[in-house]
Amino acid sequence: MANETPPQPEAQRLPRLGIFRNWLSLSGILLVASSLFAFVLLSLIDALANVSNPYIGIFTYLVAPMFAFLGLALVVLGVVLRRRRARKSGEISGGAPSFQVDLARPRDRRLLGWFLFASTVFLLVTAVLSYKTYHFSESVTFCGEACHKVMEPELVTYQHGSHARVSCVECHIGSGAQWFVKAKIAGTYQVYAVAFNKYPRPVPTPIKNLRPAQETCEQCHWPSKFVGNLDRTYNYFLGEETNTPFSVRLTMKVGGADPTHGPVGGIHWHMNVGNKVQYIASDDARQKIPWVRMTDKQGVVTEFRTPTFTNVVAESEMRTMDCMDCHNRPAHKYMSPDRAVNLAMSLPSLPDQIDRNLPWIKTNAVFALTRSYTNQTLALQGIATIIAERYPSDKFPAAQESVRRAIGVLQKIYKDNFFPEMNASWDKYPDNIGHMIWPGCFRCHDGKHTTADGKRSIKASDCNTCHTILAQGKGEELNLLTPGGQKFKHPGDEVDGACNDCHTGGL
Ligand code: HEC
Ligand code: HEC
Ligand code: HEC
Ligand code: HEC
Ligand code: HEC
Ligand code: HEC
Repeated sequence: MANETPPQPEAQRLPRLGIFRNWLSLSGILLVASSLFAFVLLSLIDALANVSNPYIGIFTYLVAPMFAFLGLALVVLGVVLRRRRARKSGEISGGAPSFQVDLARPRDRRLLGWFLFASTVFLLVTAVLSYKTYHFSESVTFCGEACHKVMEPELVTYQHGSHARVSCVECHIGSGAQWFVKAKIAGTYQVYAVAFNKYPRPVPTPIKNLRPAQETCEQCHWPSKFVGNLDRTYNYFLGEETNTPFSVRLTMKVGGADPTHGPVGGIHWHMNVGNKVQYIASDDARQKIPWVRMTDKQGVVTEFRTPTFTNVVAESEMRTMDCMDCHNRPAHKYMSPDRAVNLAMSLPSLPDQIDRNLPWIKTNAVFALTRSYTNQTLALQGIATIIAERYPSDKFPAAQESVRRAIGVLQKIYKDNFFPEMNASWDKYPDNIGHMIWPGCFRCHDGKHTTADGKRSIKASDCNTCHTILAQGKGEELNLLTPGGQKFKHPGDEVDGACNDCHTGGL
């Protein structure tokens, strides 16, 4: 039988599952299994334990899934390499093994069932994982505590502010995919910066990267609200032996910006509901504003500039004023030593406060807080030493209890408002709401911004434009209210010039 066809060599296959028998895939499988186990265990701990530890979150929702995916990648890589090797060495031959599914065969039905079951479980697990990972990356824990040294100043001040129940992302990211992606891209760089210690101290202010207030603040605060007048009393103690009190009671004319909800005028007149104010700042911190344009409801445009500013302005450089140009520290307020000590001295009825009968305590307290310290531990010791030295027990035997309390209060003030490791404190971050220690409103309302013909300037230095001084002084003087407003009586000498020329917050 010469013309009999020679027997076809049977296409060679690897033994079942043999393709996985390689070191790469095996370690991959091990990695997937152990990270899934870790994930299950950690999420149980996270769900059941009552402590919120940021590291549990990071490991559960970021590190474990990362390793699971790394494991999967290893498995696939191992299979590919193994196949290639097997083909080269002739261990397998022929084309790809033919693939047939025959639902009439019970074995195939069983396999298909298992396949569907496994895919569903896999999909569910990844869905839960990615949902959890997404949520975790949006949480205050992640933003504020994960790199906790870096974010400590922002987190601590946030926890003491009126927005402590608002999560970081509601102001810093807001809703919508576009800003989410932007934030994650920026976030990836930040992780690198933190890992390699490349971040600036203090962390720069991100107003450039913040979304317009309409998309964040105004999701909760209704811009049309008519706020009207607010009654505010500011209490001070002078730097004298007797710590003389001095108070100012102001009616803040906050007003409103929408005629359908109240008279338009007052401080909230600037808001974009009716009027539009645009400006150009010549520095990154937006402390110098040489050019301002206002467009009123009728569309009439008026431009103001300082005398030395002659540049041609481009639309792209302008910023439209919104909530954050005045309320720029709604969540992270660093109290100045002056203000924090005034507050602590103005509440004598509480036990944990500074006793204003200690001679020179205002001056000494501000002095102790404003020394430069390299870290918190040294600062707390330094404060205790300075205060204890100024009130030794032989000279002030009866006041030792007050001295001890004052030290405690000052240390608390320091911990809440000063972050030497991050170089963050009141003097690093401008607060634009007033005009006492930063130019604030006077960046525009300084009388120097005029129209080109010089005929009109932005309303300025009349002390009763933005608020009326109802009462000032101490004791009985504070009961003499003048609804029309009094002339400001600066304590001590009459002064000239901008308040922040002399007042630094550490006076
Ligand atoms: C109510 C809104 C709001 C919330 C909530 C909020 N921030 Fe901010 N944050 C701001 C604004 C506005 C600025 C810009 C400040 C400026 O321009 O002076 C800012 C600035 C920052 C900065 C830059 C440094 C600085 O102090 O200017 C960091 C970092 C920061 N926030 C982190 C956080 C973290 C972390 C959380 C959550 C723990 C958080 N923020 C919650 C509004 C918010
Ligand atoms: C998720 C909702 C939410 C967002 C977003 C939000 N706030 Fe608030 N805001 C609140 C709540 C709640 C309070 C506290 C109200 C109270 O206790 O009377 C508050 C209080 C305030 C106050 C008055 C108290 C104070 O600290 O002086 C101001 C001003 C303020 N927010 C400004 C802002 C600004 C500016 C932004 C945007 C950067 C913003 N808010 C974003 C919910 C929000
Ligand atoms: C021109 C500066 C300026 C702009 C712009 C501005 N505010 Fe105000 N706002 C003030 C001042 C000043 C006060 C008075 C309270 C104070 O001194 O803290 C105030 C008061 C408030 C209060 C009441 C605070 C309280 O303690 O009851 C809220 C809430 C508020 N503003 C929210 C907003 C929101 C939201 C926006 C943006 C839509 C906005 N403001 C825009 C300057 C401004
Ligand atoms: C970017 C510049 C700018 C800043 C910053 C600014 N303003 Fe104004 N403000 C203006 C302009 C422009 C007008 C309209 C000027 C005019 O009509 O003379 C105005 C008008 C006003 C008015 C009069 C509104 C009316 O009834 O006509 C008040 C009150 C006021 N501002 C308060 C404040 C307070 C308080 C702050 C600080 C928290 C502040 N402004 C910060 C630009 C600014
Ligand atoms: C452009 C509007 C505006 C003008 C003009 C203005 N103020 Fe104010 N002033 C404010 C605002 C807004 C605050 C509230 C700051 C805050 O909420 O902490 C304030 C706060 C104050 C305070 C309390 C300061 C603090 O932080 O302890 C004093 C005192 C004061 N003003 C005095 C004056 C005097 C004196 C003048 C006249 C030279 C004047 N103001 C003119 C807007 C103005
Ligand atoms: C030429 C410098 C100078 C200027 C400008 C100035 N002050 Fe003062 N101010 C002082 C000195 C010095 C004291 C006394 C500080 C002390 O004894 O504690 C003082 C005290 C005060 C106090 C009493 C409590 C405290 O903070 O110690 C207030 C309130 C005050 N100034 C408000 C203002 C306001 C508002 C303006 C702007 C309209 C202003 N000052 C402008 C130098 C100045």
